[in-house]
Amino acid sequence: MEDKVLVQGTSALESFAIKFLRNDTNLGESSKLYGIMCCCKHQLEVFITREEITRSVVRLASEINHDYRGKSLLLIGVLKGAFVFMADLIRQLGLPVEVDFIRLSSYGAARESSGKVKVIQRLSASVKGRDVLIIEDIVDTGGTISFLLDYLKRKKPASLRLCALMDKPSRRQISVPIDYLGFTVPDKFIVGYGLDFDEKFRYLPYICFVGD
Ligand code: IMP
Ligand code: MG
Repeated sequence: MEDKVLVQGTSALESFAIKFLRNDTNLGESSKLYGIMCCCKHQLEVFITREEITRSVVRLASEINHDYRGKSLLLIGVLKGAFVFMADLIRQLGLPVEVDFIRLSSYGAARESSGKVKVIQRLSASVKGRDVLIIEDIVDTGGTISFLLDYLKRKKPASLRLCALMDKPSRRQISVPIDYLGFTVPDKFIVGYGLDFDEKFRYLPYICFVGD
């Protein structure tokens, strides 16, 4: 199966190619088309397919359903990267959940974290006394989640756990407990399924590595 997708930044050509990509379940054909139609700027290599993502989301939801049976949960999604994962996950949960979002400082156009985390958009829900589950796209150095765990603990939830779609353990600087994990990934920059590189590629329905 063809698994290289050649793309460039936002352009009319890219928008046109994405239409084919979205409508085509045959990744091989659509990615060839995409490659042919776009001049090469970034090379994306599909690493986790839609089917693998779906299986993982179903498994995570069943673990969460089991552990929180009879409870109601407050899910806190970390914007922007977690929004696609969270949208899929809540539709697999058989629990009464409330959702809220927090936005923390991001990498911007860089692939490396600045190391300093700030709250850019606060929660609207009250956390005190609630069973809280953080939904994160990827844990890399651990700085973001470590900050968020401390921030939320100070608000006195009844319980606090973390569900992350991906873990990049080779880059960890601060140890964080991941209670529910989708995939362990190698030290490569990842885009798609909500994750971006300089705000690009969040829309891809699968998870890719970015080449140089
Ligand atoms: P950390 O603070 O280094 O653990 O980084 C966490 C945040 O950086 C994640 O929530 C992501 O939004 C972002 N991030 C880390 N690695 C990647 C990646 O490979 N692709 C896209 N975003 C990433
Ligand atoms: Mg994130």
